[in-house]
Amino acid sequence: MPIDIHPQKLEGAAGLIISGGPYSVYDHGSPRPHGDLFEMGIPILGVCYGHQMMARHLGGKVARGTIKEYGTAQLNVLKTDTIFDGLKDRETVWMSHGDTVKTIPKDFEIFGSTPNCKIAAMGNVSKKLYGLQFHPEVVHTINGEKILRNFVFGVCNCKDEWSPEDDIERIKEDIRRKAGNKKVFFLVSGGIDSTVAFTLCVKALGKDRVLGLHIDTGFMRKDESNQIEQLGMDNIRIERGSDFIHLLEKISDPEEKRKKIGEEFLRVQEAYLKKEVGTESENWLLGQGTIYPDTIESGGTKNSSRIKTHHNRVSLINELLKQGKVIEPLSEFYKDEVRKLARALGIDENIIQKHPFPGPGLAIRCICSEEDSDLSTSEELSNIISPYNLKGVIAKIIRTVGVQGDHRSYASLALLSGNIKFSKLEEVSTSITNSLSQVNRVSYLVTPRLISNLATDLRIKKTLMNKERINLLREADAIVSDFVQEYNSSLPDIWQFPVILVPLTISGGESIALRPVCSIDGMTAEYAKIDGDLVYKLANKLMKLKGIDAVLYDITNKPPATIEWE
Ligand code: XMP
Repeated sequence: MPIDIHPQKLEGAAGLIISGGPYSVYDHGSPRPHGDLFEMGIPILGVCYGHQMMARHLGGKVARGTIKEYGTAQLNVLKTDTIFDGLKDRETVWMSHGDTVKTIPKDFEIFGSTPNCKIAAMGNVSKKLYGLQFHPEVVHTINGEKILRNFVFGVCNCKDEWSPEDDIERIKEDIRRKAGNKKVFFLVSGGIDSTVAFTLCVKALGKDRVLGLHIDTGFMRKDESNQIEQLGMDNIRIERGSDFIHLLEKISDPEEKRKKIGEEFLRVQEAYLKKEVGTESENWLLGQGTIYPDTIESGGTKNSSRIKTHHNRVSLINELLKQGKVIEPLSEFYKDEVRKLARALGIDENIIQKHPFPGPGLAIRCICSEEDSDLSTSEELSNIISPYNLKGVIAKIIRTVGVQGDHRSYASLALLSGNIKFSKLEEVSTSITNSLSQVNRVSYLVTPRLISNLATDLRIKKTLMNKERINLLREADAIVSDFVQEYNSSLPDIWQFPVILVPLTISGGESIALRPVCSIDGMTAEYAKIDGDLVYKLANKLMKLKGIDAVLYDITNKPPATIEWE
C-alpha cells in the first residue's frame, strides 16, 4: 500500500509494517503518512525510514546522517519482551542508513542500541508502536525473522497459514482472467523464473495457447541455449542469429546497455511473432517471468529508487504493461518462493537448483572503459588498510553499481593486494566502503601475488564490447561453473557466482573478477567466503586462459555493492 493511504482503507488490517526507502524525512516530497495513521490503534512496526518517519511524526527528532552506516552491527538489546522476545543481550543486525533518530517520542522507550546508533530500536508497548533502525527483513540480521514473527504473530495475533504453493490455483485463475481469449507469447531464458511462469501459463490456458521463444542473444553462457533446445519442448522455439553484441559495440554505460538489450528482446520477439502468425499477432499477449525484486530494483514501485533497470522493465515494456498487454504470473513473488512453486509444479530439480542468471547475460559482466587510465593511491585508503599489511589503489574509472540506503550508487572500485588471512577480508572491505564515499566495491587481488607497485604495474585500458571479449568471458565462466560443480561439497551454499571481465591490465590482457555470493532472495547478499586454497586453485586455472593477466575476488556485501557489477 502507498504510505499516504487513508486509514479508512486499512480497516480490518491486523497490523502495519512501514518499510525502509531511499528517502530522508527532510527531503522535499518524501513519503508522508496520513495524519491519523498512528492513531488507528493497530500495531505498527516502522523499519529504517519507517522508524524515522514514526519518530518524527510522533514528536521525536531525526538528525541528518553525517556518517552513513552500512553492514553488520552489534545491537545491545535493552528490552527482551514483545518484538524482542527470545533475543539474546547482544544480536547481530544489518544497518543501511544515513539519518538517525536522536530523540524518541513521548511515552516511547529505547529497545536497543548499537555503538554508532543509540536509538536502534524503540517502542511504545501499550500503543503497540515499534521502530527499528536496522533491517530485520534481511538475512544478515541473524534473528530478524524472529523479530518479524514476534511482531506478526505475537503483537498482531496473525496465524501462520500461508505458503506460496497455496497460491497456484489463484495464479492460474488470474492468468485466465487476464488472458481472456488471447494467447500468450513467452520469452524463456531457461532459468527458473521464466520456466515457472511459462509452466503456470501452460497449465492455466492449455498448451495450444502458449508459445515460448528462447533468444540466443550472444550473451548466453556456454551451452545454455543448446541445453534448452535439448529439452525438446515443442512449444518452445529457439531463435539464433540475433546480433545483440553488435548493438553494444560503442556503449559502456550499464543502464544504456540494459535499455538496449531490453528493447532488442522486444523487437526480436515482435518480429518473430509477426513472422509466425502474421496479423493475428494482435491476439497475443507478452508473457514474462518477472519477479518482485525485478520491479523493486528497477524503481517500479511508487517509493522505490531505481537501482538498475531489469531487462523486463525497460520503458517499451512498461508501456505494454500499462496497456494490459503483459502477463507476469510471478510479479509478486521472491526467488525463494518461486523455487517453492517450482517444486510444487514438479519442475526439474536441475532448473530449480540453477544459479540465477540475469536477462542481459554476459553483457553486464563485461566491463568497458572508454579511456586508458592509471590507478590512484589514496591516503585515506592507505590509513584504513595499513594495519592489515595491505596495499591498495582506487580504480576511479572502473565504476560499478551499488545500493546504499536503498539508493543506487555508481562508484569506484578499490583494489587490495598483500598477504592477509581471508577471514579478515570482510572487516577491511566494510571499513573501506563505510568510510570512502567514492568507493562502493572492494576486490582483493588473488593473483599475481607479488606486485611491487599496484599503481604503476596495473592500468585500465580502453576497451569496449566485442565478440572476442565475450568469448573470453564465456570460457572463464565455464571454468568457474565446472569448478563449482567439482568442489561443491567444500564450498559455502552459493546463490550465484558471477564472473566479470574487467579491463584491468598488467601485460596487455585483462582481469577476471570472481563474485560468488550467498543470499536467500537476491535483495541482500554476502560475498561467499570460499576457502583461500580453493580461491587460489581456481585463480590458477583462470590464469591459464590466454589474455588473462590477473584474478580478483570481490569481497563486498550487498549493500553496499549489488550482486552484478552493472
Ligand atoms: P543485483 O545485481 O541487483 O541483482 O544485486 C539481484 C539479482 O537479480 C539478477 N538480475 C537480473 N535478473 N534481469 C534479470 O532477470 C535483469 O536485468 C537483472 N539484473 C540483475 C542478478 O543476477 C541477481 O540474481
